[in-house]
Amino acid sequence: MTISPKIEQLRAKRAQSQMGGGEARIKRQHDQGKKTARERLEMLLDPGSFREVDAFVHHHNNKFGLENSKPLSDSVVTGWGTIDGRLVYVYSQDFTVMGGSLSEAHADKILKIMDMAIKVGAPVIGLNDSGGARIQEGVESLGGYADIFLQNTLASGVIPQISVIMGPCAGGAVYSPALTDYIIMVKDSSYMFITGPDVVKQVLNEDVSFEDLGGASVHASKSGVCHFVADDEAQSLILVRELLSYLPQNNMEDPPVIATTDDPLRTESALDAIVPENPNQPYDMKKVIELVVDDGHFFEVHEEFAGNIVVGYARLGGSAVGIVANQPTVLAGVLDINASVKAARFVRTCDAFNVPLITFVDVPGYLPGTDQEHNGIIMSGAKLLYAFCEATVPKLTVTTRKSYGGAYCVMNSKHIRADLNIAWPTAEIAVMGPEGAVEIIYRRELKEAEDPAARKKELAEDYRETFANPYIAASRGFIDDVIEPHNTRARLINALQVFQNKRDENLPKKHGNIPL
Ligand code: HXC
Repeated sequence: MTISPKIEQLRAKRAQSQMGGGEARIKRQHDQGKKTARERLEMLLDPGSFREVDAFVHHHNNKFGLENSKPLSDSVVTGWGTIDGRLVYVYSQDFTVMGGSLSEAHADKILKIMDMAIKVGAPVIGLNDSGGARIQEGVESLGGYADIFLQNTLASGVIPQISVIMGPCAGGAVYSPALTDYIIMVKDSSYMFITGPDVVKQVLNEDVSFEDLGGASVHASKSGVCHFVADDEAQSLILVRELLSYLPQNNMEDPPVIATTDDPLRTESALDAIVPENPNQPYDMKKVIELVVDDGHFFEVHEEFAGNIVVGYARLGGSAVGIVANQPTVLAGVLDINASVKAARFVRTCDAFNVPLITFVDVPGYLPGTDQEHNGIIMSGAKLLYAFCEATVPKLTVTTRKSYGGAYCVMNSKHIRADLNIAWPTAEIAVMGPEGAVEIIYRRELKEAEDPAARKKELAEDYRETFANPYIAASRGFIDDVIEPHNTRARLINALQVFQNKRDENLPKKHGNIPL
């Protein structure tokens, strides 16, 4: 069969657009262990589901020799496809075309698919690999960034937005990922910073490598900018797919329910003995979570940052839940600035996307000290309080051990609209720990005691007997029930069903004023 010249022309143009910056640059990308923009989309999406738009778009710059080089697609591949059969919009920056730099045309392509995603209510996934603003353009490129920042902000809380960093991401370009819900970085091949090592050297005379300034491990453990670190590109895309399985398509929908063979009534006797006799001895709260959730599978977010609080997704009876848990093995599970900010962000993400919240509490209080006070623990702690207070999704709390002071109020207490608060018999709910309490209320008596240490021990024991249990809180209805720990899973799944259609809303307002 003969092919018409017009179809031949179409095929030629499409083939040209598929080649990005050409064979040599594709080889260079591969030699660096990186995939091309299109290969990454093939790996991310369900096989054969990608539909490209704007393959024939090119930049409109006629300066600096660019009038003779107008690659089709420009430096970003955009379109839609499916992940586990669910619609997603995608953009993938093409480093083989002018280093994936952002031209006005590049920005317009991203904006177009974001517009579509907002209209139909589907997530946007951005695969970032770019040298930043197209240097041959000027303010058009900067304007393009600003247009994207605006669209990221307007879409925030409406559709899930996920950024994967697979190469350079520098200067103001970092702000688009920062405005999205999740950032995933690839170890050793991605970096994010406002100003690179050269500028740092010029301004501060500091020597620092790309990796130490803005590599994946720095952002995962120190700055908290990055939520997940992947060993390679393939793993980063698998993480995106799993992350989406816990999120709805948009804020008007619920997350998907995935049938499970794990018995909703399963009891777990190991939980009855998991809290040590000695209240100062730690135990691993992640073990508690794994024993409770479907198939023991916990998808942890921000694993390397502020380990004193644990956040992440799991399923209970097939339904997605967001889990926030104090971790006694790290700093005794104390709340500090980083832990508060980490958990506040997670709580708000869950609330925005209708993911019920489960809170496991074992917290001795807030971390004292000048470092924390001077760096704003008051405002940071208030962020977590604000996040829990404003959340209207089903909110369930399990107090396993300590719940002291302000941290009692903050950690999804009954007073801030939690729907079910259950405690284990090992729970200690009080204004502060027994030792600290007796030092204050018996200061004078202890000073005058013959053997202050022995007397303090006696008084602390008495305080513990009186207050360090769940029954005073339960007698006021602040704790709905004290349960045997092995029943935790069954109780939570029952409560999720009971509260799944709960109605609760905040007062009408333009927006709240979270203490940022
Ligand atoms: C145009 C660019 C480019 C850019 C890279 N290229 N960055 N073209 N604008 N911003 C081109 C290069 O000319 C080269 O073209 C190709 O991309 C690959 O670049 P290399 O330098 O060969 O690659 P590599 O050695 O891997 O280094 C990558 C890099 C480096 C570290 C990203 O290219 C670089 O430093 N680029 C400039 C980064 C930058 O300063 N951007 C502006 C930041 S300010 P050929 O033809 O040889 O393949 C900014 C403001 C945003 O982004 C503000 C938003 C509000």
